[in-house]
Amino acid sequence: MSEGKTVIESVLREDRKFAPPAKFASAAHVRSFADYEKLYAEAARDPEAFWGGIAGSHLDWFTRWTQVLDWQPPFAKWFVGGKLNVSHNCLDRHLATPTRDKVALLWEGEPGDSRKLTYAELHHEVCKAANVLKGLGVKAGDRVGIYMPLVPELAVAMLACTRIGATHSIVFGGFSAEAVRDRMNDAKAKVVITADGGYRRGGVVPLKASVDQALAEGVPSVEAVLVLKRTGDDVPMVAQRDHWWHDEMAKASADCPAVPLDAEHPLFILYTSGTTGKPKGVVHTTGGYLTHVTYSTKLVFDLKDDDVYWCTADIGWVTGHSYVVYGPLANGATSLMFEGAPNHPKPDRIWEIVAKYGVTILYTAPTLIRSVVKWGEEWPAKHDLSTLRLLGTVGEPINPEAWMWYHDKIGGGRCPIVDTWWQTETGGIMISPLPGATPTKPGSGTLPLPGIHPDVVDRTGKSVGLNQGGLLVVRKPWPGMLRTIYGDPERYVKQYWSEIEGNYFTGDGARRDSDGYYWVMGRIDDVVNVAGHRLGTMEIESALVSHRAVAEAAVVDRPDDVKGQALAAFVTLEGQYQASDKLKAELREHVAKEIGAFAKPDDIRFTDSLPKTRSGKIMRRLLRDIAAGKESVGDTTTLEDLSVLARLRESDE
Ligand code: PRX
Repeated sequence: MSEGKTVIESVLREDRKFAPPAKFASAAHVRSFADYEKLYAEAARDPEAFWGGIAGSHLDWFTRWTQVLDWQPPFAKWFVGGKLNVSHNCLDRHLATPTRDKVALLWEGEPGDSRKLTYAELHHEVCKAANVLKGLGVKAGDRVGIYMPLVPELAVAMLACTRIGATHSIVFGGFSAEAVRDRMNDAKAKVVITADGGYRRGGVVPLKASVDQALAEGVPSVEAVLVLKRTGDDVPMVAQRDHWWHDEMAKASADCPAVPLDAEHPLFILYTSGTTGKPKGVVHTTGGYLTHVTYSTKLVFDLKDDDVYWCTADIGWVTGHSYVVYGPLANGATSLMFEGAPNHPKPDRIWEIVAKYGVTILYTAPTLIRSVVKWGEEWPAKHDLSTLRLLGTVGEPINPEAWMWYHDKIGGGRCPIVDTWWQTETGGIMISPLPGATPTKPGSGTLPLPGIHPDVVDRTGKSVGLNQGGLLVVRKPWPGMLRTIYGDPERYVKQYWSEIEGNYFTGDGARRDSDGYYWVMGRIDDVVNVAGHRLGTMEIESALVSHRAVAEAAVVDRPDDVKGQALAAFVTLEGQYQASDKLKAELREHVAKEIGAFAKPDDIRFTDSLPKTRSGKIMRRLLRDIAAGKESVGDTTTLEDLSVLARLRESDE
């Protein structure tokens, strides 16, 4: 953990409380704060009975479990002996109900093309795709890599994997070929599903070309590549290895029964950034994960049969897995997907879509709200947003000003806001208001969901009490928790369960106010959330030092009005290289090539040396202050070379 970021006491005002609107509350699944408290207490009294009840009432099981939880700290097995299938729960079980003909996926492409798939149609496509995968030799337990644009076939591919027990590992389309190669190698993917390209801001993201490059650099496990035609651009196909999605789908049978899988069967691996240079493959399994996301989607978004629900996240991140695909579909909801950028071709694209499809629930990231504020309120004002009834945020702390703006300008003052705290590792939402029950405060995620037991503690694991900053932990296992890090159980134990003995350590700093409400302050480790994207500073440092000109690099975050956090890199060069703007641009491109364009540092500063303690640790706190343009307030007596600090300040243009 870095020595630097201390948890700052919140200066946010806590007197602004918004009660759930009476009309909303009267029709909600949980209608009053007293009902929430009752549910919370019931779950706390007997967590296993509570989660067993949820799993039984929310999901279809082929075989019921014999034990709700087998907890061998820190390894958990939920619903031991139970058998189910995610695809069956998201599709087949709805086919005998009126949901059969309801729209499951509502999709808009960036160029303006649009598609609708009912549950029956989606089921048909998924069965065929599952047979295509089988035809390519995929069996239960094999890993399938997915690197696609945000198109319905991405959801089809995921559900097809789950249908036959293949474990998917999705790589966000913004990642580079190098990142794809590393992830596919770590997961030992047998098949990769991609597309010729995807649209982004009027341009084409050449996904297939990146897959080709990744495979050319060596991913020996991959036997076949399935390629969706999205843009129609010419892409070279490698004989034997590459197959067109449409050719294979045309030949495939639509008969493919969902395979009963063990509750602990690995559902997906999702790579996420940690505190080392190497991303971690977070493993989620079948029964517990689906229980958690199904239940939380219903409660937090208060889903009703006629809702048009839109989560703007890309499916390449966990929010898209849990709250674009699995949670909504398991609930029989209509989930909207949009392929493009929210301001393309104009800054009102997002509001145009809300009005066009009559979106009732909008779940997005604070960074997007701050961008919208910057673009100007005239853009949302052009559109009829009166169908909206609930708003949500996720991914980073939301500043109260953005919250208020969202509430007033987008929600028209009538929509509750659910500020949901969770992580790739938690699988589903952990802390959030229930919109019909919990009074909200701008900037606070409020209280944990029933069945979830967070706390704010000191380094010894002792609760710090109200109004004191500390470390956010989770005290008890929960069904959606990650089970391990793929291929590295030791890292799982060390990273999450060793920092605060006996607790799951989140990496976040938090505080509880006098109402017990949680205020998550952000990461206290070397992980940053830049414009809603989680990145590890060490990963970016590794990318920078892999450039021939770079001797040493330190990357820190600095505050940014729109992105929340931006990245500042301090770089020392090898002797023969000269600092220049050209080299800065080259280094930024190098990071884009190694990781992805979204990881490019916002600032690059060249320096003769980096400030270090006597033991050789880079003094990140100091760099953070310099990057933020603040006077350094910390104790600098341990600096090896104080003149370094002065020189860094001088170079501060
Ligand atoms: O720092 C917290 C922040 O996002 C981190 C998790 O990032 P990721 O795994 O990419 O998942 C993002 C989507 C679930 C957390 O450790 N974070 C997430 N939601 C919030 C948040 N910080 C404050 N408030 C939130 N609502």
